[in-house]
Amino acid sequence: MKVLLEGKRILVTGVITEQSIAFNIAKIAQEQGATVVLTGFGRLSLVERIAKRLPVTAPVIELDVTNPEHLASLADSVSGHVDGLDGVVHSIGFAPPTALGGNFLQTSWEDVSTAVHVSTYSYKALAMAALPLMRQGGSIVGLTFDATVAWPVYDWMGVAKAGLESASRYLASYLGPQGIRSNLVSAGPLRTMAAKSIPGFAKFEDSWTERAPLGWNLSDTEPTAKAVCALLSDWFPATTGEIVHVDGGYHAVSG
Ligand SMILES: NC(=O)c1ccc[n+]([C@@H]2O[C@H](COP(=O)([O-])OP(=O)(O)OC[C@H]3O[C@@H](n4cnc5c(N)ncnc54)[C@H](O)[C@@H]3O)[C@@H](O)[C@H]2O)c1
Repeated sequence: MKVLLEGKRILVTGVITEQSIAFNIAKIAQEQGATVVLTGFGRLSLVERIAKRLPVTAPVIELDVTNPEHLASLADSVSGHVDGLDGVVHSIGFAPPTALGGNFLQTSWEDVSTAVHVSTYSYKALAMAALPLMRQGGSIVGLTFDATVAWPVYDWMGVAKAGLESASRYLASYLGPQGIRSNLVSAGPLRTMAAKSIPGFAKFEDSWTERAPLGWNLSDTEPTAKAVCALLSDWFPATTGEIVHVDGGYHAVSG
């Protein structure tokens, strides 16, 4: 039987718990025929334990996306497991607590720069680190939270996401001639570790479940993960610089 990602070799960042969007991306990618390599940040033994809960235990490579040495050695480390890459998933975000939760007017540049380094610049940094393994073209996919409006409490993470959305368009422009696509999935709120660390995140949750035409399940990462896998596949061959909303239709209707 033909499956969506048969023969694809995919690098997935961002697994930290089973609730991580990246965990479901890795799971569905394997179910669809892909060979998956994970990267883990910090608590590697935890990520390795989670990796064993996938249909096929995936190898885990250490990657702090702000660490130039980790980035420089990434391609070598990945090539110990696969002979190239067809897809790369960026499922990484972080902002210091002072950059979130209604503190927008007081946040220091130092804290803003951390948010932008980890959540925005890293998209380009990861793409460049993986590039030597993508000689036959491929697909890079990241995760955003609609940055076209100012949300309550999301603050500098919202600014970082606006930068990510722009960075994805620039990557599409610069890497298109090499047959590499760059797209984002704009997900609705999901109860992952990153979301739970945002004070006041519950404010999004009620309005989302009420307003989204299709409804919205705050605990179900599968619709988002499926869209990421679709963008990794050969079924979006002429799509790049795009943002696909997986939000129950929330963005399309007014409150
Ligand atoms: N949860 C939501 O409501 C939601 C909605 C839209 C978009 N997103 C985005 O989805 C992506 C994944 O987040 P999630 O919700 O699955 O949460 P998560 O907490 O499960 O994942 C965030 C990941 O970022 C990693 N990370 C943080 N700093 C890093 C660094 N310096 N180097 C490498 N990795 C680092 C963490 O280890 C973790 O695995 C993020 O980009 C997030 O902004 C989340």
